[in-house]
This record gives sequence, structure tokens and C-alpha cells, in this order.
Amino acid sequence: MARHIFFATSEIYPFSKTGGLGDVMGALPLTLHKMGMPVAVITPFYGRLRTGRHKIDHVAENLHVGYPWEPVTTDVYSTNIQGMPVFFIDRAEYFDRKYYYNTPAHDYFDNAERFIFFCRASLALMRRLGTPPAIVHIHDWQSALLPAYIHYYAREDPFWANTSTVCTVHNLAFQGRFSSRLFAGCGLPAEAWNMEGVEFHGDLNMLKAGLVYANRITTVSPSYAKEILTEEQGYGLAGLLRRRAGDLVGIINGADYSIWNPSTCRFLTANYSPEDLSGKKICKEDLIVELGLLPQLINRPLLGFIGRLHDQKGIDLLNKIVPQLMQHHDLGIIVLGEGREDYELESMALARAYPGRYCAVVKYTEDLAHRIQAGCDCFLMPSRYEPCGLTQMYALKYGTPPVATAVGGLKDSIRPWPAPDATGFTCYRPAPGELYDCIMKACAVWTQNRPLWIEMMIRAMNKNFTWNDSAKKYIEIYRELGLKT
Ligand code: ADP
Ligand code: GLC
Repeated sequence: MARHIFFATSEIYPFSKTGGLGDVMGALPLTLHKMGMPVAVITPFYGRLRTGRHKIDHVAENLHVGYPWEPVTTDVYSTNIQGMPVFFIDRAEYFDRKYYYNTPAHDYFDNAERFIFFCRASLALMRRLGTPPAIVHIHDWQSALLPAYIHYYAREDPFWANTSTVCTVHNLAFQGRFSSRLFAGCGLPAEAWNMEGVEFHGDLNMLKAGLVYANRITTVSPSYAKEILTEEQGYGLAGLLRRRAGDLVGIINGADYSIWNPSTCRFLTANYSPEDLSGKKICKEDLIVELGLLPQLINRPLLGFIGRLHDQKGIDLLNKIVPQLMQHHDLGIIVLGEGREDYELESMALARAYPGRYCAVVKYTEDLAHRIQAGCDCFLMPSRYEPCGLTQMYALKYGTPPVATAVGGLKDSIRPWPAPDATGFTCYRPAPGELYDCIMKACAVWTQNRPLWIEMMIRAMNKNFTWNDSAKKYIEIYRELGLKT
């Protein structure tokens, strides 16, 4: 059996997803698999997977996760996506819950324990499968202890001696930072508890384990790879990242056009393409009806926002300028998102204040996300920072030019107006005034120069952020780490 590349991830679409991580894990490993790489994925068996909607088999029972969790065991389930194995780590007390990481009110109190368990169970599973992995590729803090375990285990256990590790940072702001008490229970040797290890200002920092011990670090766009080296965007880890800059690379995500493509999208009432845009107008009409917006908006700019309602996404910057936009301009705004309660309430209050023109859908609905991408004229993404961002890539493909902040992956994927090859609009700083001006620029082109707008739409729709290109860059890293295929 070829030595495997194991992906360890807390989300993988279509089994689990809270945001872009789920989308990326639904596409990148499968692309690698189709390119002939021996990839397998390990992920938690969340409660919602028990419904029977997916065909998943029980493949191992009572696998011991090992010291210092001696009596604790995991069951393992498995399925495959087009021949690529996916293993699910099952322990109901940790993963059979309504939410993934947090309720609307707070994080689950035992998140550290849940994901220490996930990492340890992943090690036990890889051990059980028998062939030492060539590469273990982890994603974000939930799986970031794995490189640390493998680093220390390799000293005593020849099984791990030739396993290399890659840590991909999808969002440096989420680090899995917990009380130092939890270090004792995670099973790493005492020597890992210092500033050069997993200790971070007296706390256990799980993402730091990945950043310190992985052989390579990647993040999800070239611009974000530079930004995280600065104190402003480094979230306390810039110094460490600068020391490891030689091992750090930014690889832009791709978009999965088998799911996000207006010419085939099954959630739309009408499909369309750069050659025939007529379906987009039908999508707009239908969206206006679906969300109860004023019918006259069909002839006015309709702007959409989709995202987690957190500081990162700048929903507060948008909401701040909504009264001014609504009073002085004839346009419509749709917000789809959930997250911080105050942002949810603020968005709902604006919807009450401007009925028929500002609509807030405070929930998570995959199909409506597609219909908003298709039915809007412009996509709003005023992020304070954005490691990559997938929604703007989807917006480009749906012919919905983005209005975004020029940060991270947004900078790397949107060509700003007035360049002759523009695909959207960007502003430099995440500030309400700049966002307002940027929206005004977009609306001016939309209303005053429709041929130019349509050219921009078509250019945007023809942009391809293919996973093949990104996957090749990951393969280069795996080969540098000794993968032989
Ligand atoms: P992030 O990972 O930071 O949340 P991305 O742009 O990379 O941002 O990916 C977000 C993904 O989550 C997209 O697939 C987007 O459509 C989806 N999404 C976010 N919020 C919602 C929501 N409320 N309903 C449906 N889909 C959502
Ligand atoms: C994170 C980032 C987002 C990125 C996604 C997938 O959630 O916030 O910018 O697109 O991960 O890499």
C-alpha cells in the first residue's frame, strides 16, 4: 500500500461545515486524490451524520486512544468519496451535539478535551491502519496538536520516524487557547511546555503546536502569508511566524465549480452563463419575491452579504452605513448570516426599519446562499482581514462583482475597478466611510454604464480559481518533504 497523506480536519463538506474550511476540505483532498495522490481524510463523526443520509460504515470498535487517556476509546466509521477514504472518529459524548464548536451563547466548555481527543484518536487510527503515513496535513487549531505528538512520538516509535507534517492556517485569529491545566491531560512531554513549545502567555495554545512542530506551514493566500508576519495581523504569533518564514507559504484556495456554478447550480430557478445572462435577471426577480423585497428593486442595485456575523467580516461596518444608504439611495441589501448575537439583533433591527429594502436572514442555509449569489448585482465583503475568502470567488463566478476590502485573499482574487480588466471594487481600509464610497462607485457604474458593467460581469464569470492549480503547489511541498509517488 502506498504511504498515505492523511488530512485531519474538523469539517468536511458535505458531511460538516461552518464556513470555508468545510468547503476547502470538501474539495482539496478530492482533487489530490483525482491527481493520483494517496489521500485519506480523518474527521469527527458529528451527531448529524447519524441520520442515515450518507452511507457510512462502522469499521473499528473501541480503539484505545492511549496514554494518558488509558480507558478512553473511539469507534471509527468510514465512507469514501469517489474512492477517497474518509474516516470518522466517533465518541458521542464529544461529537453528538447540536452545534460544532459553540452554541449561540458560548463555546462548548470542553472544546480542548474534544479536540485533544480527536487528535489522539486520529493517531490511534493511523497506527491501526498499519502503514506509517508519509504526510499528516492538519488544518487550524482543532487538529494542530498532531504535529507535536508526531514530533515527540517519532523519538521512541519508529512507526512515526518518517512521517512529515504540514500545518495549514485558515484563520490565525482562532488559536484554540485554553487553560494551562489542560496541558497535563494532553499527553505531550513536559518539555513541550515552554515558550518554544505549546505554551503561550501561560496558556495552552493548540494552533501554536502546529506552527512550532509542523515541518511546513501554509496559509490560504499569498497576501495573508505576508500579513500574518506583521504585529497587527499576527495575533501574538507574528514573531514565531517570522522565525519560520522560510517554511511558510501562501497557497490560494480554489473554488469548487461543480457546486458553485450558475450554469449548473441546482438551487436556482434559472441557470445562466457568460454566453447567456438572461437567467440572472430571473434569479433576481425570484429572489426579490422569495425574500419579500419591493418589486421595483428589479431596476435598482441589489447588494448581498453572506458570512459569519463576526468582526472579521465587517458586518458592523456595513450596518453602520445602512441608514445613510437607505435614506439617500434607491437600492436593496440582503444579509445572510449568523454569529454574534449583537450583530444578529442589529441586522434584524435594520430589517424592521427598512422593510422591503434591507432584508436580514439570520440563519444558515446553503441553498439561499446560492440564490443570493445569483440574484444580487453586487456582493459585499467588507472584511477586516480575510485569509482567503471563498464567497467572493463564488460571487465572481455568479457574475456578481464584489465590493470588498483589499486584504488577504480578497486582494489576491479581485482586480479592482477602474483597471481595464476589473472584476470588482476594493477599498483600502475596513472603515464605514471607505465602504460607503466604494459602494457608491459600484452603483454609479451599474446605473450609468451598463455595457461596462456587463463586460465586468463576464470577465468575473470567466475567472477560474481552480483547485488543480492549488493542489499542484501542495504536491510540491509533499514531495519536498519526501513523498514518493
Ligand atoms: P469563512 O470561512 O471565513 O467563513 P469563506 O468565504 O471562506 O469564509 O467561506 C464561507 C462559506 O460559508 C461559504 O461557502 C458561504 O457560502 C458559507 N456561509 C457562511 N455563512 C452562511 C450562512 N449563514 N448560510 C449559508 N452559507 C453560509
Ligand atoms: C477561514 C477564512 C477564510 C478562508 C477559509 C478557507 O475560515 O476565514 O478566509 O477562505 O478559512 O480556507
